[in-house]
Amino acid sequence: MPIQHLNASSYQKRLTTGRTKPCLFICEDDSGEINGEYVVKLKAGMEHRETGLASELIASQLAMFLDIPTPEPAIINLNPDMTEVIGDAELATKITESAGLNFGSRFITGGFDTWPVGEAIPLSLKQLACEIFAFDSLIQNPDRKPGKPNVLWKGNELYIIDHEMGFSFVYGILISHRPWQVTELNFLRNHLFYQGLKGQDVNLDRFAGALETLSAEKIASMISNIPAEWNNAHISRITDHLNEVIKHINEFVDEIRRVLQ
Ligand SMILES: Nc1ncnc2c1ncn2[C@@H]1O[C@H](COP(=O)(O)OP(=O)(O)O)[C@@H](O)[C@H]1O
Ligand SMILES: [Mg+2]
Repeated sequence: MPIQHLNASSYQKRLTTGRTKPCLFICEDDSGEINGEYVVKLKAGMEHRETGLASELIASQLAMFLDIPTPEPAIINLNPDMTEVIGDAELATKITESAGLNFGSRFITGGFDTWPVGEAIPLSLKQLACEIFAFDSLIQNPDRKPGKPNVLWKGNELYIIDHEMGFSFVYGILISHRPWQVTELNFLRNHLFYQGLKGQDVNLDRFAGALETLSAEKIASMISNIPAEWNNAHISRITDHLNEVIKHINEFVDEIRRVLQ
């Protein structure tokens, strides 16, 4: 699936939640036609810079492939000239330092809010919550937890966002040769949905079925959407990780069930 490349044309505002405080820009294509509003994660604001951007892009493609709702991703070019109209000097510097390609996600509007802390999982969202738990196990994302939900929610709908810390194993020293074995990942017990799912009947059949259709070729095609300027040695570890997990889907899913027992 090709990823749109757009240019940020007009600064709207800075988001006030989250650690990196991304910015909202109106973005247009190369012909100058407006495409829409995108939340742009600024490279210079990210702890792991290009790897963080690449993790966002890989994770959002995987989520879409696995039918887990996430805002449509885009690669957004930032031209530092636009800082002339930005009053906030610190932000202007950050945008200048982020010149070039950044990760964007289509701005979700219409009354969505971040998942409220302490909210019980409504019955209508239990299946999706379980699949999101499995998804975060797949991408080893420690960054969806009660204090940091990274879920946009409205009634029976939700979107997952913020996968900058996905594939967190790339920052570790030890390489796991069995990345489908997730029972040892302690952060999963702090997951946003862990307490609400623990000890319940979890159905991972649909998720496992979707994962069965993820081939090495599809993974390679997602990786090929990463811009050359974000590429680095971590990307091949992410590719290897995904390829290993898809060779052991039954074991991986059994492991998730065990964590949630
Ligand atoms: N696509 C989006 N649509 C609407 N709001 C978004 C979108 N992406 C991010 N946000 C908002 O911006 C905040 C920060 O974004 P996030 O990706 O979580 O970055 P951070 O790394 O700063 O936590 C989120 O908590 C959410 O409120
Ligand atoms: Mg966040």
